[in-house]
Amino acid sequence: MSPLTELAELAEQFETEAAEITDQAAWEALRVRWIGRKRGIVRERLAAFKDVPPEQKRDYGQAVNQLKQRVEARLTELEASLGAAPVAAAAILDVTLPGRRPQLGSIHPVSRVAAEIVDIFNGLGYSVAEGPEVESDYYNFEALNFPPDHPARDTQDTFFLNDGRVLRTHTSPVQIRTMKSRKPPIRILCLGKTFRNDNDLRHSPMFHQVEGLAVAEGITFGHLKGTLEAFLKRLFGPETGVRLRPSYFPFTEPSAEVDITCTFCRGDGCQVCSQTGWMEILGSGMVDPRVLEECGIDPDRYSGFAFGLGLDRVAMNRYGIPNIRVLFDNDERLLRQVKR
Ligand code: DAH
Repeated sequence: MSPLTELAELAEQFETEAAEITDQAAWEALRVRWIGRKRGIVRERLAAFKDVPPEQKRDYGQAVNQLKQRVEARLTELEASLGAAPVAAAAILDVTLPGRRPQLGSIHPVSRVAAEIVDIFNGLGYSVAEGPEVESDYYNFEALNFPPDHPARDTQDTFFLNDGRVLRTHTSPVQIRTMKSRKPPIRILCLGKTFRNDNDLRHSPMFHQVEGLAVAEGITFGHLKGTLEAFLKRLFGPETGVRLRPSYFPFTEPSAEVDITCTFCRGDGCQVCSQTGWMEILGSGMVDPRVLEECGIDPDRYSGFAFGLGLDRVAMNRYGIPNIRVLFDNDERLLRQVKR
């Protein structure tokens, strides 16, 4: 084999050996084997220069120098990559760093208010009832004494589906479903999503309502008033003032809107309550005899009261949230603020 061919083969062999180096000890062995001061392969090839025939000396000198440079460069490169690895690992896993606390979630303000209301009414003997969010015209309107073309339907900003059903505009249809499927005495609470085509600072197309219904023999307006006062004082604090104003809903007669003393100024008058000291909180009334009858309940024997309120409004008042959209933005900072 000519000295030149031999050099070419050595270069290849070195690359193969270098590719297998994975730790510091193997690197050191490779270094000694190739450029070790005593018997390194490259050193021996350099020393062999003197024995090369004169006409090959030029090419041989060039090739052996190239091999030396290549080996040295590759060894430096390898050393750097082996040295770098432990440093990178240390950056990933520095056991001396303090731990990272997992973020704790918390209950959404609307869920929190819902749970409180359920708790209050559980104490009064109410159970929770449910109904569908996509509702028929019959349950959402007709059985609740909104005849077709009744002007009160216009106040509900209804979302209609192509098949004539609606997204329920209130939780009141659950009253009908309950009265049709159960016999009095009935005491239920329904909490759920409701929908209206309405969108501003205080209204969102999807919002939440709570509905209450009590039907039994001998239920009077006094029971309604007593229940609502007890409920609102538990929810907003014992100092809360409660007043009833005559109103109209198709499904109750008589009907009343209920105000509480403003939760911001406590009744002195401020911007939030338009200087009146009061804020409207819910709608209520005695179940209209026609509604009882429609549900197969004898209105001469039984009477009942009902009420409905917006959960989002309560959460906004409670936590001082000025814009209803904040409740549905899924910004985790809201949960952190409300937790306190
Ligand atoms: N359903 C009414 C609304 O969404 C609220 C309401 C008023 C519910 C009076 C009732 C009630 O049960 O008796 O505006």
